[in-house]
Amino acid sequence: MYNRSLAKIHDESYAHLAEGAANFLRKINPPIRGPLVDLGCGAGNLLAALSDQIEVAYGFDLSPDMILRAKAKNPGFNFGVANLFDVRIPPAQVVTMIGEILSYACHGETNPSKSVVPFLNRIRTQLQDGGILLFDVLTDIRDYNYHHSGEEATWTLLMNSTQAGDEVTRKLTIFQKKPESGLYAKTTEYHHLKVFQNEQMTQWLTETGFEVVTMQAYAESALPAGRIAYYCRKA
Ligand SMILES: C[S@@+](CC[C@H](N)C(=O)[O-])C[C@H]1O[C@@H](n2cnc3c(N)ncnc32)[C@H](O)[C@@H]1O
Repeated sequence: MYNRSLAKIHDESYAHLAEGAANFLRKINPPIRGPLVDLGCGAGNLLAALSDQIEVAYGFDLSPDMILRAKAKNPGFNFGVANLFDVRIPPAQVVTMIGEILSYACHGETNPSKSVVPFLNRIRTQLQDGGILLFDVLTDIRDYNYHHSGEEATWTLLMNSTQAGDEVTRKLTIFQKKPESGLYAKTTEYHHLKVFQNEQMTQWLTETGFEVVTMQAYAESALPAGRIAYYCRKA
């Protein structure tokens, strides 16, 4: 899961959503100062983009390769390898989960409310009054049977996405050029994600004690089709 090849590609070529989320958070009034907790922080691009504004920040991610990158980019912040639901969330002004992290963490669960609702409560407890939770998930406003491809000079990525009920499986095939030999190495990853109903998510958030605004972009960065972002404030 986000092993070395994919971590590098995501970091270098798919950082626009994290940067869009950082730009969105920059425009909030009163300005955010932290602490900020970025769950599923990936390569740390959101934290890097806010590092002039935030003094204390924490990033957690399941992928050791992502955390290596995040640490190298943000020497002043704190990082750990952890599954989303196992993180002991520090007290925070802002908690973020950018890039369908909750969809990843809930895959395979027949009743995701059992983990999501207590988790939202834990986040709310750790947030300051008026604190912010910002995240996005896959929602049921589209069908997830599709193909995607991307390429740059040193890599090609092929993705085959299939959906069965509210579960999505992505097969990612990556060809990456080795600088030493010029030969291409092939790696394959399977990602499994949960699709949520927008109304259900909004209800969970409201019942937990958040004021919620839904969005289809972070600042100038549009979310891919089907994804919805939730901008929540501790009520
Ligand atoms: C699409 S990337 C987004 C990374 C980063 N937030 C960004 O916007 O650039 C998804 C990230 O979620 C992490 N992830 C997936 N499942 C996770 C889980 N159960 N707990 C924590 N992190 C998880 C992956 O390792 C990966 O770094």
